[in-house]
Amino acid sequence: MSIVDRNSRLAALVDELSEVALYLWQRGWAERNGGNISANITDMLDGDYTPLSTFPLPRPFPAIAGCAFLVTGTGKRMRDIARQPMNNAVVLRLHPSGNAYDLVADYPIPPTSELPAHLAIHEQASLRHSPAKVVCHTHPTELVALTHHRRFLQPGALGRLLWSMIPETRIIVPRGVGIVPYELPGSLALANATVKALEYHDVVLWEKHGCLATGDSLAETFDAIDTLAKSAAIYLAALSAGQEPEGLSDQQLDDLAAAFHLPTSPA
Ligand code: 13P
Ligand code: ZN
Repeated sequence: MSIVDRNSRLAALVDELSEVALYLWQRGWAERNGGNISANITDMLDGDYTPLSTFPLPRPFPAIAGCAFLVTGTGKRMRDIARQPMNNAVVLRLHPSGNAYDLVADYPIPPTSELPAHLAIHEQASLRHSPAKVVCHTHPTELVALTHHRRFLQPGALGRLLWSMIPETRIIVPRGVGIVPYELPGSLALANATVKALEYHDVVLWEKHGCLATGDSLAETFDAIDTLAKSAAIYLAALSAGQEPEGLSDQQLDDLAAAFHLPTSPA
């Protein structure tokens, strides 16, 4: 019997992984193996598990030593994760030293190439006692398209624009969007820059690459990215109708923040 079959909370999370992976594929954000997902499941696992295989980490992660994670496999398609989640994702546990990990279920599949970013984010969440247990990275077309324009890479510019397209974005993504300048996919440099940007935001855009969200649940991370993608699509649709869209005014955004008791951090 697999770890998942023996653990109803983990089984429910794997069901949610499968559901959200399908949404990412259906949205057109997950070409081939595009995107990856992880969740901190330390509080769901008990007992010892026989390692299937062991791998070193590119740097130690002492703050999450001993922690366990559900992580999508590298090179795996979201549409396959949706159908057969545990044939395409793994459970891994960091060593007590924090500088290596064991794969413990179900198959010895190498985890996502973005593992450094996922672990760095989980480490930061743990250090801050944040309830955010989930990291979701995907490639939403309209959001990535906007990161190809230099003017949107200025601090706060894209976040403010996306907030102003529809009131829901101000409410559902209250801490706005961070911009992470282009870095090599899978690199520690990308991981470090992402952790820095997440100090002020729950969602970041990786320039010319994709989007990454953290949250308490997978549904929450999907909703945040979906709402931002909606704003980006509205912006591009309005632009294609002939001119730059007006957007909600500063006053209208301030009124939303006051009415919904939202933080007023930079977009
Ligand atoms: P993986 O298949 O290694 O998860 O890579 C996909 C990706 O989106 C890299 O940024
Ligand atoms: Zn990617």
